[in-house]
Amino acid sequence: MKPERGKLTIVGCGPGGAEYLTQQALTAVAEADLLCGPRFLLDLFPEAQGERVVTGPDARQVAALILSRMDECRVALLVTGDPGLHSLAGPVARLLGRERVQVVPGVSSVQLAFARLGLPWENARVFSLHGVSEEEAELVLGALATVSTAAVLCSPAWTPGKIFGVLRNTAGHRRAHVFWDLGRPTEGRMAGTVTELAGRFEGPGRSVLILTEAEE
Ligand SMILES: C[S@@+](CC[C@H](N)C(=O)[O-])C[C@H]1O[C@@H](n2cnc3c(N)ncnc32)[C@H](O)[C@@H]1O
Repeated sequence: MKPERGKLTIVGCGPGGAEYLTQQALTAVAEADLLCGPRFLLDLFPEAQGERVVTGPDARQVAALILSRMDECRVALLVTGDPGLHSLAGPVARLLGRERVQVVPGVSSVQLAFARLGLPWENARVFSLHGVSEEEAELVLGALATVSTAAVLCSPAWTPGKIFGVLRNTAGHRRAHVFWDLGRPTEGRMAGTVTELAGRFEGPGRSVLILTEAEE
């Protein structure tokens, strides 16, 4: 997919390792005049010639920057995983108008976590604990305990350890698999029941937690 003037190209960059980049992502980034995104994603494209601007998680700020440049140059916004899953891509596309956006799909961290387990995920429910209020987190944690297969995007505020602390009363028997740094040389994982892990394992905020009904 080629970036165009007057349109934003949102590029799903996969979980973070260069080998999970698609050919479409490489082409879009190689041909963009301006690359926006977090530093660790910009660094995945050392060969790209476009101007680089490090952007943060504030969708309004990102959209304002892109709007100010997109008519004069071909802009690519780099996001982690797939742009369709709990991504900055959603609010940025809403602010710009969907007709002004094209999307390059990417490998999601959730996809990769299920692949590591060798499990299908068509019946899984995916939850995010990113930027949620206490009330929203309570709803997510309540729903989590009721579905048989769940994936949770953890966050610095909601680490795996904090989630286990809440779930130990309602879902202590469930099997938990935590993955961090998926697709990178520092990739790691931990597994056990919620009860076994609660109080013993904190885990990084940037993790995917998979909850299954029983021993897999
Ligand atoms: C804002 S969400 C973006 C999700 C992304 N759109 C996707 O499809 O993976 C960020 C969260 O995704 C998860 N995540 C993204 N990359 C990851 C990786 N390489 N390893 C583990 N978790 C990751 C973590 O839960 C992180 O806190």
